[in-house]
Amino acid sequence: MIDGKTLHPLGGGRTLAAMSTPSPAMSPATAHEATSNLPELLERRRAGFSLEAPFYTDRDVFRADMTGIFGTYWLFAASIAEIPEPGDYVTVDYGPYSLIVLRTDEGGVSVLHNVCRHRGARLLPETQGTVGNIVCGYHSWTYAADGELLHAATAPDEKFDPKCFSLKKAHTRVVAGLIFVCLAPEPPTDFDDVIPLIEPYLAPHDIARTKVAYQQTIVEEGNWKLVMENNRECYHCVGHPELACSLFPTWGLTEGMIPPHLEEVWERNQAAERALQERCDRYGLHWEVLEELDTRIAGFRISRESLDGAGESFSETGRRLSKKLLGDLRDFRLGRCSLHLQPNSWFHFLSDHIVTFAVYPLDEGRTMVRTTWLVADDAVEGTDYDIDELTNVWKQTNLQDKAFVELCQLGAESPVYEQGPYMKSEYQVEAFINWYTQRMREHLGVVPAA
Ligand code: FES
Ligand SMILES: [Fe+2]
Repeated sequence: MIDGKTLHPLGGGRTLAAMSTPSPAMSPATAHEATSNLPELLERRRAGFSLEAPFYTDRDVFRADMTGIFGTYWLFAASIAEIPEPGDYVTVDYGPYSLIVLRTDEGGVSVLHNVCRHRGARLLPETQGTVGNIVCGYHSWTYAADGELLHAATAPDEKFDPKCFSLKKAHTRVVAGLIFVCLAPEPPTDFDDVIPLIEPYLAPHDIARTKVAYQQTIVEEGNWKLVMENNRECYHCVGHPELACSLFPTWGLTEGMIPPHLEEVWERNQAAERALQERCDRYGLHWEVLEELDTRIAGFRISRESLDGAGESFSETGRRLSKKLLGDLRDFRLGRCSLHLQPNSWFHFLSDHIVTFAVYPLDEGRTMVRTTWLVADDAVEGTDYDIDELTNVWKQTNLQDKAFVELCQLGAESPVYEQGPYMKSEYQVEAFINWYTQRMREHLGVVPAA
């Protein structure tokens, strides 16, 4: 079931203009201030603080992000459960890029640029569907699932060689059923080192034997980095009453950082962690925290962490939301295996369902967030799970997060916005910003100020 939301019209953009030489006494750039260029903003980035306004509001920065981040690094696109049969496809857009993610006749995944090689028309304008061959709606050039040009009506002349006009391909990796793409000519190799680290955590949940129970696509009126930052902390989790029933609000805190009102929750959290770790050891499941969010190019964090209450799922009581266990799992009390990846995704793998979150930037002030709930492929709706119960917590949480992101975007647009300090529990936000600024510095050849 797809819950498509109407997109808002393109918002107005701002571009960088001239900025004077930075000095310690100089005020940070605001959304409305004349600025010179992105390299200067990157060079003078203030560690431990949020970014200057143009990173969130400026159209030129957004364009640079699309090249320097989305055109360069591995991105989450979709899961194989979204394209279960040969010919099934989804289209995913990252700013100006549009991709067709297609299940091939052989059961593999083909990722093609959604741009006709005749005169560039968008080939598949729908977000999902099923095709045999891909036929352009303009002049009917016809492509095979692997991108080969099969037919061009009234080809221009005998010298026309269809082999020169195959659809352009993106690099693809399928990791435990999650499809990743890279748009760069030469993808960074670091991701190949991360795959064997994360795959053993995810594989027991067996995405190949799941189906899409529900999908929600929302547009947040905020820059894509604000969406990612908001995901990387639970400092705001008091704003998530439904989620806080099962997700310990102590997430992100460590011993010595616990405020008095959370001490009791912390004790419960610690006991649940010990019990979960013993259970995982018994079943041979990984639970250890692996965290390299800003210390490698394929920044990631993975762990299996306990849930409150019954410890099974994202419900009011912590009880299961689907009666069918995933894969060959033998216990519902497995908490959540959570994966954070730079730059555009996060995931929760539970014993009874999986939730994937994909971030697709639209422009400097708008971001699409797609949330997909997967259940065992033999789970029967209405018998084994109820759609409203399954999706309630994250639907509510997503709308709450959307509101937080939009408040921040409004703030970044204000002439009085200044960079604010990260709290200790926001270390993953800072790690995301570290990762982002480092990648953009590399992209633009910027040396940070001493
Ligand atoms: S643009 Fe696709 S066939 Fe002409
Ligand atoms: Fe949140």
